[in-house]
Amino acid sequence: MFDPSDMTTVDTRAVHAGRDDLAALGVHVPPIDFSTTNPLPSVDAGGDAYETLATGGTLPVGGSAVYQRLWNPTVARFETALADLEGTTDAVAFASGMAALTAALLAATRDGKRHLVAVRPLYGGTDHVLATGLLGTTVTWARPDEVAAAVGPDTALVIAETPANPTLDLVDIAALARAAGDVPLLVDNTVATPVLQQPTRHGATLVLHSATKSIGGHGDVLAGVVACDADWAARLRQVRALTGAILHPLGAYLLHRGLQTLPLRVRAQQAGAEKLAAWLATHPAVAQVHHPSLHDPAGLVGRQLSGPGSLLAFEVRGGASAASAVANACRLITHAVSLGGVDTLIQHPASLTHRPVEGEAKPCGGLLRISVGLEDPEDLRADLSQALAELG
Ligand SMILES: Cc1ncc(COP(=O)(O)O)c(C=O)c1O
Repeated sequence: MFDPSDMTTVDTRAVHAGRDDLAALGVHVPPIDFSTTNPLPSVDAGGDAYETLATGGTLPVGGSAVYQRLWNPTVARFETALADLEGTTDAVAFASGMAALTAALLAATRDGKRHLVAVRPLYGGTDHVLATGLLGTTVTWARPDEVAAAVGPDTALVIAETPANPTLDLVDIAALARAAGDVPLLVDNTVATPVLQQPTRHGATLVLHSATKSIGGHGDVLAGVVACDADWAARLRQVRALTGAILHPLGAYLLHRGLQTLPLRVRAQQAGAEKLAAWLATHPAVAQVHHPSLHDPAGLVGRQLSGPGSLLAFEVRGGASAASAVANACRLITHAVSLGGVDTLIQHPASLTHRPVEGEAKPCGGLLRISVGLEDPEDLRADLSQALAELG
């Protein structure tokens, strides 16, 4: 007899996760629950449910969800599936990746510690929130080998991104977790996806995704999610309930559907990225290509990251004006921010996604970032070839 816990591969789990109860419900795809409010069996039962959910608890079987900001079954179903793929007990979904990061920072600092240690590069929005201290935090920027010295008694969280957006730098998560010691470690896993990397297996405490990217995969859902253990999930749900950052159920449905094809999409897009990266590295107008298939000094591909992924960046000779000419000249490839979707996008990080990043941490002017989609890599190569020809 087949036991569902035997589903060992990510491909099988991605298709079936969060769907165990569907047959008993007599349906093949998950129902979507749009209710913003829910009938209460009695004043006392309603009050108890409110108390449980507003303090970060989970919905008891048969209990009333009370109000969508506190709990939504469609969101919870997506969370179950995502946690399964990340190898965590829990996950908490939010209205955007930045809402997820905000909740993680509020949850980590709620007991009064305000200091963060962060490893650059990070997504520009993340960098901006930390650099401005908008949420009442202070930050020490540290290279991975400086983290142990940067952590102090007031440190609430260590933050890193690997592969990092936009330069695809890799960080050894296990080494970082050792350096963080007792301080929780948040790893942004947006670029890798749980198909290629599961940070908690290497010692991360919190795994953050902009689910807007590969998890949704089709450019039509804005969302974020944090995978973690039950204690952190309760903290995050409490912040979510109080700040109102819950994901919309239609978004959750689409993300859950997106998970089913995530492994296939990630591998196909990755294959295209490897081809393009290898070709760009030979192009005379290109000074440097950033992709883990070409640059992995610590040998993390195969050990921590099972493949190099679909995001790459390259520096054109001639700086910002040359980069802007190439982005403007692309025809098949769309000039737009975001990443991880089925269509290929190009953008200039210094002007857009990483515009707020200050000083030396800002990406160089000649850098362009490409999120490789599912098109034939030969067509993408032809488009880039004609765009690079603009440089003469
Ligand atoms: C690596 C990374 N983390 C977080 C975010 C923020 O996510 P969102 O745009 O869904 O708020 C982004 C967005 O581009 C990202 O690329």
